Amino acid sequence: MDDTTYIVATDGLTKRYGKRNVVENLDLRIPQGCVYGFLGPNGSGKSTTMKMLLSLVRPTSGEVRVMGRPMTRATRRELLGQIGSLIESPPGYGHLTGRENMRVVQRLLDLDDKQVARAVRTVRLQDHLDKKVGNYSMGMKQRLGIAMALAREPRLLILDEPTNGLDPAGIEEIRELLGRLAKGGVTVMVSSHLLGEIDKTATMLGILSQGRMIFQGTRDELFAASTPDVLINCSDPQKAHRLLTRDFDTSLENGTVRLPGPGNQTTAGVVAALVGEGIGVYEVRRDEQSLEDVFMDLTGGGGL
Ligand SMILES: Nc1ncnc2c1ncn2[C@@H]1O[C@H](COP(=O)(O)OP(=O)(O)OP(=O)(O)O)[C@@H](O)[C@H]1O
Ligand SMILES: [Mg+2]
Repeated sequence: MDDTTYIVATDGLTKRYGKRNVVENLDLRIPQGCVYGFLGPNGSGKSTTMKMLLSLVRPTSGEVRVMGRPMTRATRRELLGQIGSLIESPPGYGHLTGRENMRVVQRLLDLDDKQVARAVRTVRLQDHLDKKVGNYSMGMKQRLGIAMALAREPRLLILDEPTNGLDPAGIEEIRELLGRLAKGGVTVMVSSHLLGEIDKTATMLGILSQGRMIFQGTRDELFAASTPDVLINCSDPQKAHRLLTRDFDTSLENGTVRLPGPGNQTTAGVVAALVGEGIGVYEVRRDEQSLEDVFMDLTGGGGL
């Protein structure tokens, strides 16, 4: 892919605080029109990265390109005009109504009424505009924040943990909204520290661990990057486990021997060894993998 197919690309993006790189050498590649799920545990550097993309935090080193153009002092204003964002907690003045909050944004960005009305309709807040934002539910506050970010009709939306603090119905609502926005041509970068929350909506995933990108690609590529465990049913599971545990980290579960993530050659060798010991091998199969298993695998057992 050439650079213009990426709405955001970074090269070696790094942020150091004190003696620590909290974001290290990040090469983000966010294709146009996708929902990019930016996953990582608390403190892994998601917000810092997003702030660097928005020029709210100055990178220690590395480059940010938006729509193929380097973000510099000269281009910043124009490029940021194409980006809507919601960073950390939802914005909005609690003592004002939803409508008044939208009016603040409208004046600030010099938007017309239609743009504001469209953004409000997109997040389905049109019936709650006269309520004070202080009395909004968390889900409504997040949606108002998204409407504020959307009103300028950006090509890219950067949302930092928009599902934080929401109940399952609220999370589902945000997921559905993000999918709808992407279909409408807006690229969405959305972060979360919870694996399951955005992985189904995201068409691309970037996974951070301690400031470093440990995976970037599609969900299918993520699953392909990890080798599932092998489960063996045989005539003498205790003996098989005893034999194998010398070389592998096997476990015994309800009479089935579990061999963690072996390659095909290893699996064949193990089966041959068991047969050689006079054990009848009834069944050898790969286990189903959950997203959590894949993460465990990628992070060497430490989880995220
Ligand atoms: N201004 C700052 N000065 C010093 N350290 C900072 C600063 N901002 C962030 N950090 C540190 O950088 C690391 C990454 O923080 P960041 O907020 O980017 O993580 P995060 O992935 O967004 O976490 P969370 O899921 O909790 O929001 C943390 O260890 C944090 O303490
Ligand atoms: Mg954060």
